[in-house]
Amino acid sequence: MTTIGFLACETTLPGSGARRRADAFEHDLMVAALEPALAARGLAMRVIDWEAPLEAFAGLDAVLLGTAWNYQDRAAVFVAKLEALEARGIAVHNPPGLVRWNMTKTYLRELEEAGAATIPTLWLDEVTGEDIRAAFAQFGCEKLVVKRQVGAGAEGQVLLTADEPPGPDWRFGRPAMVQPFLPAIETQGEVSFVFVAGEFSHALTKRAASGDYRIQSIYGGTESRHYPAEDEVEAARSVLAAIPFAAPLYARIDMVRTEDGLLLMEAELIEPYLYPEQGERLGEHIARALARMTEPEGSRA
Ligand SMILES: Nc1ncnc2c1ncn2[C@@H]1O[C@H](COP(=O)(O)OP(=O)(O)O)[C@@H](O)[C@H]1O
Ligand SMILES: [Mg+2]
Repeated sequence: MTTIGFLACETTLPGSGARRRADAFEHDLMVAALEPALAARGLAMRVIDWEAPLEAFAGLDAVLLGTAWNYQDRAAVFVAKLEALEARGIAVHNPPGLVRWNMTKTYLRELEEAGAATIPTLWLDEVTGEDIRAAFAQFGCEKLVVKRQVGAGAEGQVLLTADEPPGPDWRFGRPAMVQPFLPAIETQGEVSFVFVAGEFSHALTKRAASGDYRIQSIYGGTESRHYPAEDEVEAARSVLAAIPFAAPLYARIDMVRTEDGLLLMEAELIEPYLYPEQGERLGEHIARALARMTEPEGSRA
């Protein structure tokens, strides 16, 4: 039987007790969406910690990167593991080359060059208090967001205001991106477009809790289904098309609706949460694509 591995991590796996992440319910929702849909296509699923020894992956035909939500500080080890799985003949979704490309947010510059509408960004290897003063002047804005070039879940991100700027000795401490704060995040929220094997699956709007601007559920953010107009889907689809790789099994394109139209926040191609509650056919879409990909040659109907 074809078996698909769903990669998790020690803090998303059930049984991690008090160490389990506050948003691990999203892991449970993904598993609940996928398992029956895969079974309906004759595919078995096994949830496995990505850090398990290679031998533990024996018998898997493919893996989904699932909820491997702790890889950021061991990114090189993570990609090496994906490559080792591939070398054992296990199909990795999304593949390590794409993961490596998507890991550093400098990919946004490439997408911008390919025509995607992105948020104005300063790319700096280190950010000083001086850089922040210059950025306020350059963008002519009252608030700035500074975030890691390699990061997820808004970790390490800071929001700075022009009337309380950091002192000259302030350092961010890592390669960073500096952006004007988009007030639309508070009024419109962030729109996520989920694609499976290049086809639009569903969309949703994510809103921050009042008093916050980060839409992640871990900060109290909430989601609601969004039925996008065709031109919105087209905007997201053109971002997907600009990615210099074949259409991946799954992609989540996060955008912010501003007066200048939809701007790309990020393209999540590694281990995005895919919001099955807002897309009740997500499991079916992924199962169908996986069934196609794992079918033996020549058995295609
Ligand atoms: N320029 C910005 N203006 C307003 N909010 C922002 C901006 N950049 C990031 N945010 C907020 O922070 C969250 C995390 O930023 P994001 O770029 O998506 O990084 P991550 O990879 O951590 O998800 C976004 O979902 C949004 O709520
Ligand atoms: Mg994000």
